[in-house]
Amino acid sequence: MRRVGRDACHTVMPSSFAAVIEAAAASLRQAQRVVVLSGSGVSAESGIPTFREPGGVWDRYRLERYSSVPALARTALSRPGELVRFLHDVIEPVARAEPNAAHRAIAQLERHVHATVVTQNVDGLHQEAGSHGVRQLHGSLLEVRDPHGRVIRRLSRAELAAVVTELRRSQQAGRLALPRALLALRPLLGVSRRGAYRPNVVLFGEPLREPDWEDAQRGADLCDAMLIIGTSGLVMPAAQLPLRASMRGATTIMIDPGAPLSADIVLAGKAGEVMPKLVRAAFG
Ligand code: OAD
Repeated sequence: MRRVGRDACHTVMPSSFAAVIEAAAASLRQAQRVVVLSGSGVSAESGIPTFREPGGVWDRYRLERYSSVPALARTALSRPGELVRFLHDVIEPVARAEPNAAHRAIAQLERHVHATVVTQNVDGLHQEAGSHGVRQLHGSLLEVRDPHGRVIRRLSRAELAAVVTELRRSQQAGRLALPRALLALRPLLGVSRRGAYRPNVVLFGEPLREPDWEDAQRGADLCDAMLIIGTSGLVMPAAQLPLRASMRGATTIMIDPGAPLSADIVLAGKAGEVMPKLVRAAFG
């Protein structure tokens, strides 16, 4: 992981928010190709917590206990109850989430311009809102993969919700919580006649999903504008995409209430409020 710093000299600073929206809209209108790079902030208004904000996943749970397969195995032995709570708290919001106004506005971009969504999120909400060909750099919680990384099964949100119900029950089982949770997780995690299977999510230290990462880099090289929405940009290699696009001459536009990164145009606000306004301003 590497932190990407703010570079004020690239920031366009028109006087009002309306002027900043118009500057961003003009960039989208002029663009042949747009890449949308999204992070957990785009799904915050769908009720899915972000990672590093107060109340976020890595604020409530220590990253080093959950971020890799060996760490998860150690936590299973030393803190089984906490592991079951973690799994429940991560899967539950995704199981009940629906796309919000930001996901829908992003999907609308495709009607007007060649737009590619590159997401770090594993919640499947861009696809559900209507975006096509979404590159999921960190995989999907709605997919199950075999040891070779092949997707062998897709779960509906209702199937994921059923897993959550069983996970909640397993939390009441005291010392049997972990074995009960493993039973609950069988649609996502286990061993079958074809070998071990697990959720198709990328943990720390694992390679990004392909060809999604290759496509994302090509998209960054070819785009004229990159929308960076709801990501702190702290996790490599996804965080290098805005720099890559910028070095090739693309206009970078960030939508985030915390405005954590440098960008040519910064729209400091919630994605669900700003994105629909931006798409309306750009394309009517
Ligand atoms: P972070 O929690 O690091 O950053 C979330 C960003 O979303 C922050 O910059 C917030 O200001 C912003 N945000 C919050 N609410 C928002 C809203 N309504 N609209 C727009 N932005 C909003 O999460 P990510 O950058 O997504 O990886 O984290 C990247 C990766 O770190 C994740 O994919 C995950 C995590 O560990 C893996 O697990 C491999």
